[in-house]
Amino acid sequence: MDFTVETATDAVAESFRGTEDRRLRAVLESLTRHLHSFVRETEPTTQEWEAAIGFLTAVGHKCDDTRQEFVLLSDVLGVSTLVETINGAEGGTENTVLGPFHMTDSPRRALGDSIDLLATGRPCVVSGQVLDADGTPLPAAEIDVWQCDEEGFYDVQQPGVQPPGNGRGLFRTDDEGGYRFRTVVPSHYPIPTDGPVGRLLEATGRHPYRPAHIHFIASADGHRTVTTHAFVAGSPYLDSDAVFAVKRGLITDFTESDDEREAERLGVSAPFTHARFDIVLAPEPEVTP
Ligand code: BEZ
Ligand code: FE
Repeated sequence: MDFTVETATDAVAESFRGTEDRRLRAVLESLTRHLHSFVRETEPTTQEWEAAIGFLTAVGHKCDDTRQEFVLLSDVLGVSTLVETINGAEGGTENTVLGPFHMTDSPRRALGDSIDLLATGRPCVVSGQVLDADGTPLPAAEIDVWQCDEEGFYDVQQPGVQPPGNGRGLFRTDDEGGYRFRTVVPSHYPIPTDGPVGRLLEATGRHPYRPAHIHFIASADGHRTVTTHAFVAGSPYLDSDAVFAVKRGLITDFTESDDEREAERLGVSAPFTHARFDIVLAPEPEVTP
């Protein structure tokens, strides 16, 4: 069969017919159909296609052990959030992107501890409960939190300025499923723009900012782990997150207070800020034998 604009897609899709793994075959056939359809629709010139390959090559070259430019590309194209949303658990707190600043070994901390190791900012207390889908508190649930500081920088972006582990903590909920930690209110900040993804944003007139947020990963036995954020209500960029990760239900009030007694109870000095963020974990799906 001649390879023509009309026959190209079937020819390539057919070439995967012998793929034993049915899922792999379905994915490759679909990729072929969508990619060919994109090319037929946009009719790139040879130079444009070379430029596209050059862009993806630059994305690859920017990747190393600490920088994942392909994930960043997936983020700014909305694909990361789309995949998260498709895989979200019904009945649980909505999930969002993990982002590049998570560390696998967050420092273990006691409930009420501060994750603001520099203690230079206005104190903020974040508390809440981890619950199951019926509203039953989940004791001994794990909460991994990480955030940037009031200037919009994560510890890993400022070695020598911020101590490692600043803005991070691993907590275990108490008998009522409760958790609490002290911190500062994070700022909005730009995603890394010193690579090809930054050039893409610039070429398209898009800003690189994310609204202020605190990252959470919450897990408990028998429940689905959720990766999510508490977004700071009123933050700039809630309506135009560079990575499309905002979900209305995750926008959280960070309330300012002068109440000295409440401050003392929470282990901070007034004035302080308080945010309550409850997390609901959906049940683990039953495994069918
Ligand atoms: C973050 O929230 O840490 C993040 C997410 C996606 C891209 C860049 C940063
Ligand atoms: Fe972040």
